[in-house]
Amino acid sequence: MRANNLNEMVGNTDLLKIESLSALTGCNIYVKCEYQNPGGSIKDRAALQMVLDAQEKGQLKSGMTIIEGTAGNTGIGLAIVAKTLGYKLKVVMPKGQIIEKERLIRLHGAQLMLVDPCPFKNPAHFYHTAKRIGEENADHWWANQFENLSNYRAHYINTGPEIWEQTEGKIDAIVSVCGTGGTIAGNSGYLKQQNVKVKAWLIDPDGSGIYNFLKNKEYKSQGSSFTEGIGIMRTVDNFRQAKIDYAVNLPDVDLITVAHYLAKNDAIVLGSSSALNVAGALRAAAASGPGKTIVTFACDAGERSYSKLYNPDFLNEKNLSQPNPDINALFERYKAQAMNNVVSV
Ligand SMILES: Cc1ncc(COP(=O)(O)O)c(C=O)c1O
Repeated sequence: MRANNLNEMVGNTDLLKIESLSALTGCNIYVKCEYQNPGGSIKDRAALQMVLDAQEKGQLKSGMTIIEGTAGNTGIGLAIVAKTLGYKLKVVMPKGQIIEKERLIRLHGAQLMLVDPCPFKNPAHFYHTAKRIGEENADHWWANQFENLSNYRAHYINTGPEIWEQTEGKIDAIVSVCGTGGTIAGNSGYLKQQNVKVKAWLIDPDGSGIYNFLKNKEYKSQGSSFTEGIGIMRTVDNFRQAKIDYAVNLPDVDLITVAHYLAKNDAIVLGSSSALNVAGALRAAAASGPGKTIVTFACDAGERSYSKLYNPDFLNEKNLSQPNPDINALFERYKAQAMNNVVSV
């Protein structure tokens, strides 16, 4: 395509068939290549839509500063959108996210504030810090990706229709992790409106409470995950819009198997949330049997997970190293599990 500015390059990403996993499962497994967005992640879509809608509603005016709390990718997306449209940007991020995301936000000229990671109820949490800065400064506009439904809308009006068109309506399941829920909500909403039979799978990492919430209406989590930008312990407005059929919790070992196998075998180097998505697609394929078309998201690329997911020292330290990732064993385990531990919502 030919673009006049970076904002015009957000969206319209390719849909890539993963040949090895399609052959293994007998399903057509596709990833939507969201790392092709100009900021390198799926969050560019939400960033752009939130800003465009706020401008249209008159909430964001020339000369104002955008403020947002983020695990990083939304900050990178907003940095590009803000610069392209002439706004300043302040980003509040928890410490301990991959250093590459901090560097990119600074490289784009945004002001970065790092806060200690803490539970949501603590007023120092990155979300509350961003909100407070927004409220204390009349010339700031707080994007609020968790509750701002422009996030969901970005997927409902763009990503979902792209997938419907790219699959020519032949899609059986959409599989997604959840951070704010914008992705799963917008895509499940749009695709189910086209065909009620499309199933939506929510994939939850360890340390997140969504799976238990959907199972028992209680935010409880076990273990922890090194994935970033996904998992949550509360219900937010974007997630409320989601039309979920099934939810499953998958551990980091599974995403490591998938990530390292695909890197070795298919030249596809995924970020950690994307590898969890693909593990989820495998789980959905195992549960539904062959012949289905299953779409998931490559939310960002492997560079943004390099110092954790692809770092042997990090994996050794966490006792997660897998010299020979055995994708067949993983798929056999998923087949044996079938719908066990899958919550029907
Ligand atoms: C790498 C990555 N994957 C997935 C997500 C989750 O997307 P959503 O917020 O639409 O649920 C995020 C959100 O920040 C992310 O950064």
